[in-house]
Amino acid sequence: MLIIKNLYVSTQEKEILSGVNLEVKSGEIHAVMGPNGSGKSTLAFSLSGHPKYQITKGEINLDENNICEETPDERARKGLFLANQYPVAIPGLTVQSFLWQVYKKRNPPKAAHLGGQVKNDSIMSLIEFRKWIEAQAKALSLKPELLKRGLNDGFSGGEKKKIEILQMLVFNPKYIILDEIDSGLDIDAIKKIAQTIAKVAKDRNIGVIIITHYSRILKFLKPDKVHIMSTGKIIKSGGWEMVEKVESQGYSFEN
Ligand SMILES: Nc1ncnc2c1ncn2[C@@H]1O[C@H](COP(=O)(O)OP(=O)(O)OP(=O)(O)O)[C@@H](O)[C@H]1O
Ligand SMILES: [Mg+2]
Repeated sequence: MLIIKNLYVSTQEKEILSGVNLEVKSGEIHAVMGPNGSGKSTLAFSLSGHPKYQITKGEINLDENNICEETPDERARKGLFLANQYPVAIPGLTVQSFLWQVYKKRNPPKAAHLGGQVKNDSIMSLIEFRKWIEAQAKALSLKPELLKRGLNDGFSGGEKKKIEILQMLVFNPKYIILDEIDSGLDIDAIKKIAQTIAKVAKDRNIGVIIITHYSRILKFLKPDKVHIMSTGKIIKSGGWEMVEKVESQGYSFEN
């Protein structure tokens, strides 16, 4: 379980989160909505350990360990994955070699101490991995030739978002945080991405926090809970009716 307890976060000496409480069980999908500037991205960055955001009070417990003092790298190794709103480009590194490196890091050969002589069947070879990743790309309607290009180099907004999802599939985290993964996506892409996320959450028992402004992606994802954030706090939580209220009344219903 991912438990955020009374979290206070500041950046440049300005308090942005003022006591966020949120509990996400494995396999659950939680949507976080809220007006611009309410602190949603700050919450996502704070969870992933961005150095610009200081936790001044409270706890983030990942499967019963407080991870507030851990580096982004340690948090990632423990299974926390943040899909970026603005993914970086690495022109010299192809998507497929990048994903293969991630896969190898996440799945070290268990029999390495035996000189690698005993093959672990659950680990894919490079050829098997390439086939698998091509199938995943196809399911997301991502052109296979993109896998051979430099990571996010000249990719469209939607293609970058799909690469984030591919990365998530390879990374195989326990909890994922998706910050506006749906922004700028066409309706077919939203549907494909949402279906992929819903499927992995269920099949692999992954806890999901999805930050969004719109109901479209949530219609496909069917979140278990919906939270409304305002001025650095979750001020209301509920079910699908919250999404409908936001859609029809904006955030005026908060008051
Ligand atoms: N690095 C920073 N320096 C100064 N202020 C910041 C910084 N990061 C966030 N803030 C401020 O904190 C507040 C919350 O920002 P945040 O990006 O978390 O909002 P958000 O809910 O994600 O908004 P949006 O819906 O527009 O994405 C804003 O007022 C923002 O200007
Ligand atoms: Mg944001």
